[in-house]
Order: sequence, then C-alpha cells, then structure tokens
Amino acid sequence: MDRILINGGPRLNGRVRINGAKNSALKLMAAALLSDEPLILTNMPDLADTRFMATLLEHLGVNITRPSETRMDLHANGLAEPFAPYDLVRKMRATFNVLGPLLARRGTARVSLPGGCAIGARPVDLHLKALEAMGAQIELDEGYAVAQAPKGLQGAQISFPFVSVGATEHAMLAAVLADGETVLNNAAREPEITDLADCLNAMGARITGAGSASIIITGVSSLSGTTHRVVPDRIEAGTYALAVAATGGDVIVENCVPDHLDVLWDRMRAIGVQVEGQDDQSVRITQNNERCGAADIETQAYPGFPTDLQAQFMAVVCRADGASIIRETIFENRFMHAPELSRLGADITVHGREAVVRGVAQLHGAPVMATDLRASVSLVIAGLMAKGQTEVNRVYHLDRGFEGLERKLSALGADIKRVSEAG
Ligand code: EPZ
Repeated sequence: MDRILINGGPRLNGRVRINGAKNSALKLMAAALLSDEPLILTNMPDLADTRFMATLLEHLGVNITRPSETRMDLHANGLAEPFAPYDLVRKMRATFNVLGPLLARRGTARVSLPGGCAIGARPVDLHLKALEAMGAQIELDEGYAVAQAPKGLQGAQISFPFVSVGATEHAMLAAVLADGETVLNNAAREPEITDLADCLNAMGARITGAGSASIIITGVSSLSGTTHRVVPDRIEAGTYALAVAATGGDVIVENCVPDHLDVLWDRMRAIGVQVEGQDDQSVRITQNNERCGAADIETQAYPGFPTDLQAQFMAVVCRADGASIIRETIFENRFMHAPELSRLGADITVHGREAVVRGVAQLHGAPVMATDLRASVSLVIAGLMAKGQTEVNRVYHLDRGFEGLERKLSALGADIKRVSEAG
C-alpha cells in the first residue's frame, strides 16, 4: 500500500491548475444512462471514483472511452440488464444515483443500497421518497432497492425536509424523462446541481431554477447526446488555497470559479490570508504571516461553508494564533481527522458536532492515517507545515478525489513524495 512522505516547512509558490469536479462528474456520468446518444464530458478528472463509476456504467451496458486525459465519451445505446450489484455500488455512494435514470429509461431497476460510510450513516431515504413520489414502486430486498415504474414516472411536487445534494440530483435525473412537471422544493443549490442541470438541458431536458431552492423540471420523452464541460472542482481549489494559508507563500489557483468559494475567501481573510480574484477563472492566495489568526466556521449547505473543506480549514487553524470553533452540521461523524491532527501536536477538543482548536506555535511530523478523502488531505496540509517528516497512510483515500496531488504540490515547492510498500 502506498504512503506519502512530507517534509514540512517549504512555502508554496507558483500556479496550480484545478481539475473538473469529482462530485459533478459522477452525476454527469450517470446522466449518460438517459440517452441512447453519446454524452461527451470534457474537463473530466481522472480519479479512482470516476473509474469506479465507469466500471458500474460499463456493467450496465454503457460504452465508455477516454480519447484524452480530460475527456470521457459515454454511449448508452445498448443497455444491459438494469442491475447494479453490491460489489459495484458499496464503495461509493454516488453509484446509487443510477437507480433513477435506469427507472426512467427502462421502467425497472435493481440497485444495491450503498450502506453507511466513515463520515456518517448517510441513508438514502430522501432519494427513495422522491422516486416514489414520481410513481415508482420500491421494495427493499436483501440489501437491494428493487424499483418498478411500469407506466413510466410521473411529475410530482417534492419538498425535501432538509437539503440533500444527492437526493436533489437523483430526483432531477429521474424527473427529466417523467410525464409532466416536477417541482423540487428545498432543493440543494450547489454549483454541481447547476452543472447537472446545464448538461441535462443541453441534452434536451427542460429544467429551470437550478441553483435556487426551487427547481422545476418539465419532463420530455427522450434526451439526445451532447458535449459538456465539467464545472471546476471548488473543493480541490479550496484545498490548495488552504494549503497556501498553512505554509505561507504566493500561489495562483487556476481553472476554478472563484465565486463558488466566497464563504471560504471570507474565512481565509479573517485568518489573515490575502485573497485576490484575478479574473473569473483564477484567484491569487498570498500568506506572508508566520502564523495565521483564528476564526470560527460552521458547515452548511451551499452557499454556506462546505463540509468538504472543514477538515482542511481545521488543519490550517491548528497553528493559528488563537482558538477557533469548528461546527459540523452536515455529517454526524466528520471529525475523525481531529485525533490524527493531535498526533502532530494539535490541541483539539471535540464535543459532539463542535471542535475547539487552540492554535499551537508548531506542529511536529508523525505517522498518521485517515478514514476519508477530505480528512486525508487535511493531514497532508498539516504535514506541509509541520516540523520534520509526516507519513500519511491509506493514500487510496486521496486517490479517490485529488488527481496528481503530490505532483501539483511538488511543483509549488513542497517536499512531498509517494512511496510504495516495496520502496
Ligand atoms: C454529497 O454527498 C457529496 N458527495 C459529499 O462529498 C458532500 O460532503 C455532500 O454532498 C454535502 O455537500 C457527492 O457528491 C458524491 P447529502 P451526499 O445528501 O449527496 C443526509 C466528498 O468528500 N441524508 O447532501 O451524499 C446525509 O446523511 C463527499 O467528496 C439523509 O439523511 O450528501 C447527510 O447528513 C463526502 N437521507 C445530509 O443528509 C438521504 O436520503 C446531507 O447529505 C440523503 C442524505
């Protein structure tokens, strides 16, 4: 199993280019199931998660090619049996989003339930209720959702009790081919939702209101193919910005949408980092202080502070001059990086969904391991500013969501390398 070795200290300088968003790409890939014409996705990241999704889609009969590093062509003109087995679903929740498109296109589907994960129980009840509201009959049978819609899906009024990114996307992916109008109330407003709506509309869907809390979808009888550019990954962009906040330096983060991270820029300015928008695709991050200041954050659905940047922000304020309070409101168990950061000398106390981080003058390198993607990268950030060597284990978590992490950080001046077990 690979490990990452980091010798902390060097400041980061230069330019870093951001990839397309993993969390958008995965749902866009599922959208390919809705048409018998090719869907061409550009600005595609090449990640363990996108490869895993491709394996499931190929099992479902989608023909997938990668004509270049950043392009994926998906052609679902000869769908196989609409069956998504446990082994191809369990590792990644986004795979569950094939249920709605399969049901919309084939009228029947059997998809394994994704199960919980390290950051929380993460049920799919809202996904199932949305599909049921559209007329699907769903039974849970030995860990599978077995769904039928023999007369097709019908438009429905769906009010989500709380905001769910996955359930909003899943309802959109089903409603585009439903008969009549679907209204999604209390919908998620993340940029990935807008990206999915843009792609579906380019395929011939009729969706308005994406990016607001109320999305209206007028069903159409079929969708065509299209070419769509995946929205830049705001979490990857935010992660590099926070890495500069941690080490100090001067970096231009390119190929991102700075407006998607307004709440992060506000919090970074609050801890003394300079953030200057260069244009609508890049932002310059400058940190000249020896230590950053402290600031509180509370995670919220977009446009609030993203839960997917909470761990990285926590890593940065471990060396702040002062105490910060971090509240996690989205997932019930998303502080598992805290004990690992403490192994580097951080002073963190967790009470339920709140963590108090008292900044220390210096972190010290140590072996650490993480249980999820964003937690892993928070340990990399901590390692970049720690004195001595940090060894990050379970690197496969990082490979799920950060393409070329060591390469990009090395290019900015970090002392970081990957070693395999053998050497
Ligand atoms: C998406 O997960 C992202 N994943 C997550 O990123 C991200 O943290 C999350 O949205 C919030 O922004 C993908 O897009 C693949 P939710 P999702 O449904 O859709 C509860 C990463 O590191 N809930 O908005 O699963 C749920 O348990 C990942 O890239 C239900 O109770 O998130 C959570 O507490 C991690 N029932 C809350 O809602 C449901 O049916 C919000 O989850 C659905 C969700």
